[in-house]
Amino acid sequence: MQSVSEQRENQSPPRTTDKPAVGSVGSGRWVLPPAPARMQVIGLNLYYGSNQVLRNVNLDIRDREITAIIGPSGSGKSALLWCLNRLNDLVPAARVEGKVLLGSEDIYAPDVEVALLRQRVGMVFQQPNPFTMSVFDNVAYGPRQHGIKDRRRLEEIVEESLRKAALWDEVKDMLDLAGTSLSGGQQQRLCIARLLAVEPEVILMDEPVSALDPISAYKIEELMLQLCNSYTIVLVTRNMFQASRVATTTAVLMGGEVIEYGPTEQIFESPRDERTDNYIRGRVG
Ligand SMILES: Nc1ncnc2c1ncn2[C@@H]1O[C@H](COP(=O)(O)OP(=O)(O)O)[C@@H](O)[C@H]1O
Ligand SMILES: [Mg+2]
Repeated sequence: MQSVSEQRENQSPPRTTDKPAVGSVGSGRWVLPPAPARMQVIGLNLYYGSNQVLRNVNLDIRDREITAIIGPSGSGKSALLWCLNRLNDLVPAARVEGKVLLGSEDIYAPDVEVALLRQRVGMVFQQPNPFTMSVFDNVAYGPRQHGIKDRRRLEEIVEESLRKAALWDEVKDMLDLAGTSLSGGQQQRLCIARLLAVEPEVILMDEPVSALDPISAYKIEELMLQLCNSYTIVLVTRNMFQASRVATTTAVLMGGEVIEYGPTEQIFESPRDERTDNYIRGRVG
């Protein structure tokens, strides 16, 4: 059996950029080993009305890895995540400056189809939010929106997506049951299956386990480690142990600024910014 990190190293995803991620936040320079970036955030400022919520954020979201975003409450973690699939378009007073690239495309370019973008970059929220329909229909919803009507094909997609979300064995005999009648952890995996059914490239997760019991949370963590072999994951979490267990790269957000970004081990074991050190040791946030 290969370990997860070996599995990750052994694959060669399509490369979008192949330069190493280099930056100079904090007191020193950090260099991550070269890896393609699936998304790049470049000089991003976000304002909610007159309140500047993100300040000159620069970040590479590396392909088929888990990038964790950690930081105190109110530091802009959700706001940053929302910028990555333009959910902030739904906030009337929101204004974005800078660029967010998906592959080489600027997601804020005028000709971008936002519905398609949100299919390519899906979101999992803190509170599981299955639709009030059956388990089957929850997962078949996206494919149906894309015009797939053939029952057999839909059944295949539903089974495959539920398997990938590690939920199939638990629900295969109750696909007609309401999605909302499942346990919290199952509902969260159902929401993940619903995303997978439309074949996303990036999965954004905003504190996906913080509403769940420890066993359900553990299952989702295991699932994330599986999924990052095929998908790029951005995980917002306030649980630093979780970040250190699953993320290859970690960004620390404070007051809307990325104060540190680098290999997770380095962030937790030898942070270069005193504020990160204080935060990790529980003196802030
Ligand atoms: N819809 C909104 N309108 C105005 N300000 C908001 C809105 N949502 C969040 N904010 C503000 O944006 C900042 C960042 O919030 P958020 O991204 O939710 O932080 P985090 O997820 O790190 O806890 C906070 O100061 C918060 O008050
Ligand atoms: Mg938040």
